[in-house]
Amino acid sequence: MKQFIIALFITTAIITRGENIGLPEDIIPTPALIEFSAGNFTLSENNNTFHIAGSNDGQLGSYIASLPIALTATDTEADINISINGNADDDESYTLSITPSGIYITANSETGAFYAIQSLLQMTRGGATNQIKCCTITDCPRFAYRGLHFDVSRHFRSKEFLMKQIDAMALLKLNTMHLHLTDAAGWRLQIDSYPRLTEFAAWRPWQKWTDWWDSDRTYCEQNDPRAYGGFYSKEDIREIIAYATARHINVVPEIEMPGHSEEVLAAYPQLSCNGKPYGSGDLCIGNEATFTFLENVLTEVIELFPSQYIHIGGDEATKDSWKTCQLCQKRMADEGLVNVDELQSYLIHRIEQFVESKGRTIIGFDEIMQGGLAPGAVVMSWRGIEPGLDAMRQGNYAIMNPNACYYLDYTQDAPFKEPVSIGGYTPLEKTYSFEPLPDSIPAETAQYMLGVQGNLWAEYITDDSHAEYMYYPRAFAIAETGWTQPEKKNYTDFRRRSLVLLDQLRTMGYNTFDLANEYGDRKESQQPLDHAGRGCHVIYNLPYSRQYPAAGDSALTDGIRGGWTYGDNRWQGTMRDMDVTIDLGSQRPINYIGATFLQSVGAWVYMPRRVDFYISDDGENFTPAGTAWCDVPDTSAEIRYKVYSTLCHTVARYVRLRATKYPKAGSWLFTDEIVIN
Ligand code: ACM
Repeated sequence: MKQFIIALFITTAIITRGENIGLPEDIIPTPALIEFSAGNFTLSENNNTFHIAGSNDGQLGSYIASLPIALTATDTEADINISINGNADDDESYTLSITPSGIYITANSETGAFYAIQSLLQMTRGGATNQIKCCTITDCPRFAYRGLHFDVSRHFRSKEFLMKQIDAMALLKLNTMHLHLTDAAGWRLQIDSYPRLTEFAAWRPWQKWTDWWDSDRTYCEQNDPRAYGGFYSKEDIREIIAYATARHINVVPEIEMPGHSEEVLAAYPQLSCNGKPYGSGDLCIGNEATFTFLENVLTEVIELFPSQYIHIGGDEATKDSWKTCQLCQKRMADEGLVNVDELQSYLIHRIEQFVESKGRTIIGFDEIMQGGLAPGAVVMSWRGIEPGLDAMRQGNYAIMNPNACYYLDYTQDAPFKEPVSIGGYTPLEKTYSFEPLPDSIPAETAQYMLGVQGNLWAEYITDDSHAEYMYYPRAFAIAETGWTQPEKKNYTDFRRRSLVLLDQLRTMGYNTFDLANEYGDRKESQQPLDHAGRGCHVIYNLPYSRQYPAAGDSALTDGIRGGWTYGDNRWQGTMRDMDVTIDLGSQRPINYIGATFLQSVGAWVYMPRRVDFYISDDGENFTPAGTAWCDVPDTSAEIRYKVYSTLCHTVARYVRLRATKYPKAGSWLFTDEIVIN
């Protein structure tokens, strides 16, 4: 019904807004080659024809006939003439020639022809124009794998939502939908041999993930009046796969192991090291029953999903319970495994062999490299690109989805105007500017780069419309990096095209980020700040963390202010109090001392309780120069910035600043600059 309404709307739009001309230079991802020619092709309002010659299984014809540009099949020369000259599905290239009298598509596969149609659909701007500029586009992708990830565990999404995103992905020539089907927050896939996974582990008594996480993190029966969650039946999955396949998108299922498995252990506690639910989230690797469980589940998954790739998670196991579990210790002794990393690797190797015996290939997050990488595994590199490059050097394929650029749950604009998020700051330009293959990588290693993927973890994303807001337009950037050769990329032009395509998506009923009104990075960070302490020597009475050094010993007086996130290498962090002395080099007038601190409660970053300022002539005997107190609530989920300062009107050589951190163990304190004037 919804599609029918959209189709009606778009047909109306063709009639009323036909004055715009669809341009090939607006397409995202940018095609390899566009040759312009004279004139326009005009789509009729209600009767366009298409003809397909060459091998095809009928799917392309039905897809085209379903499009909202009034296309019907014909046996003769048509408005859109498609010639498929082969059946090599992995050949995604195409040529699209638009002349005043007709449109001609040639491709070596239905996939290529499908992508030509997507270019055409973008040129019609979702129905906003029926005039298309004449040109010839010759196009093919840079990488074979171009993915988007959907975390349907933290918040379950309907199959209709997934199908809607499949349409947007197709328009962007993305070809892989990664479904994160299992995690602590809920199991989402019918498994006939383990019914408790969906009767119980798919439901929780809290709707918002944050409420559930902050409570006792329990599950409930499906018929509990509080039950929130859901799962896909096998029939649902077959429908999603059929819809995706018709749009040349492969659906990769992910079954998490051995960590992130709290929901499995709640339903089947015998698979945990202590045999009890609600303790660890790690499966017991010493227990053969774990392998029986995983192999039975994977057998059903492999029967259901035709995907060559089966994702097995592999990330963030705590490995704690394995250290004291008798069965895990025995497994380590029997197999000659020297540590728990090797124990994890033992599981990954065994599962890889099992999946391979079924003719499939595993993908795992980069932690699967710990303790030794399984030979056929594909590594999904999320903690930067180095793990992926390492895997490639070992002859394994890698997919790059570095969290700093490709985690779409990070805020995309100034936190004060954005929905509360997990933190970070990843604007469109940062996602776009990521290059997965550094120049230094030789061709024999580069050949193992499978592609790129954007991940949207959904802890903070309860609503479908919020999810779309986080995907678009950053998914455009990932699509362009995956498809377009790097020398053809240009952010200014990409941003212009993104505004056009965002209009199109909104017309089609998607909720998107408002790129036209992007605020941008924190103003203070945009140019260096000059002040009396700039360039002065900093003595650390307590050290900063090696994990967040920013510019190291000079960071607090280099004039460089931090951006919206503590993780941008401009904020210096510590897990202790901060205590520094600045040597101004000589006696100087001092009227003002101040420093900005940042709070991001979700990331355990808090405001200092107080900041005490001191001055001294000799660097040994200090006089108090004021105290600034915290007035920011520690419960506020928004990212907050606060200047702690004092006015003093004095003359001195040394300034000391002591920030007393929030008392919670494991919490952080961050500042970017100590400003003295
Ligand atoms: C991950 O973000 N833990 C893969």
